[in-house]
Amino acid sequence: MRYINNKFFIEGKDIRSLTKKFNTPLYCYSYKNLRENVENFKKAFKEIKPLICFSVKSNSNISLLKEIKKLGLGADVVSKGELYASLKAGINKSKIVFSGVGKTKNEIEYAIKQKILLINSESLSEVLAIEKAAKKLNKIVDIGLRLNPDTDAETLKQISTGKSENKFGVDKKTFVKIINLMKQSKFINIKCLSVHIGSQILNHKPYEKMLNVLDKLLKNLDYKFEFIDLGGGMGINYDHKTKKLNYTKYKKSIIKFKNKYNCKIIFEPGRSIIGNVGILASKVIYLKHNKTKTFVILDAAMNDLIRPALYNAKHRIVPSLRNMSRSKKILEFVGPVCETTDKFLTERKFQNIKENDIMIICDTGAYGYSLSSNYNLRLRPAEILIKGNKVKIIRKRQKITDII
Ligand code: LLP
Repeated sequence: MRYINNKFFIEGKDIRSLTKKFNTPLYCYSYKNLRENVENFKKAFKEIKPLICFSVKSNSNISLLKEIKKLGLGADVVSKGELYASLKAGINKSKIVFSGVGKTKNEIEYAIKQKILLINSESLSEVLAIEKAAKKLNKIVDIGLRLNPDTDAETLKQISTGKSENKFGVDKKTFVKIINLMKQSKFINIKCLSVHIGSQILNHKPYEKMLNVLDKLLKNLDYKFEFIDLGGGMGINYDHKTKKLNYTKYKKSIIKFKNKYNCKIIFEPGRSIIGNVGILASKVIYLKHNKTKTFVILDAAMNDLIRPALYNAKHRIVPSLRNMSRSKKILEFVGPVCETTDKFLTERKFQNIKENDIMIICDTGAYGYSLSSNYNLRLRPAEILIKGNKVKIIRKRQKITDII
């Protein structure tokens, strides 16, 4: 994605021709960015030979999942729906892990029948529910057990998962108790220790701390895990100023750990694979001026992209057609939804904007469409995938009759 003669292009396509054809708001994805992210990730962690399971919650579009499968990744799923979509996309069941704190009996039985690699469990009750389902289906089931390492991920509070006050995983004492209890089980094999301390992590140090916690636990535990699932969380550079997570530094501490415990490593990256692959294109419906600022009222809203409203996340906004002018007023980019938090960004330095201009909300490939809703009975946007000069509609714009 770049400007050519001040026009915003995704691969070979001018965004304005795409919005003219497919309308707005419009999620657009670049295949090239996707391929590059996967290749970079693989290259960075090559020595570890990890199983990379794409975290489907970050983007569950089936066409993208198919491309991700072709690029060799597995899937990390958190619901029957995500598991179904991953299998439909052709992802090999031996590359699928099922995470989440509250899998239902129905979901567990479905996962067992599909013979996926691991069901990562998060409580004693859930392990017992898996055992019961395994017994009923007369199957031996491989599972993971998620540890809550009580590690601060140094990220937003709302997307931290590894502190003891968070609902995820079990504490060390419970972990050891479950391991010992399940040694007798005829139906359950605990093959994996899993962790995931949070999302959008930019510093490798929290990961180091997490690995130290694991090291302390494993040193004193007479138990061999075939897999260590380190989760995802690798942060990206949304503001184009701070650096994304340094994979090399993270890798160093993993290599040390892996050599000591001789286990296979699983990763569950979502955002680092798909975040910068997508943008949300939106049209300026109206401009409204008050004494101090101009509201730029877009046709995209918090129902299309909720991250700014939910986490105060900042997504850069850039024009589809660049010029050298400078707006005299502060610009506040907002959506049409009847909520004060339906606000994307406030910009002090921006070019002049006109009604009907197309704006690009950047880096919306992860947790964009997948967190969208029909709030205000607004219809979900279309999604398109750009591959060189080819454009494919990978999800049609919703129609009112789809939801009424
Ligand atoms: N594995 C587990 C168990 C997870 O809970 C998550 C994300 C991931 C992997 C993938 O994490 P990633 O590599 O994408 O950081 N909606 C929030 C993010 C929530 C993340 C939830 N879990 C956002 O928009 O920032």
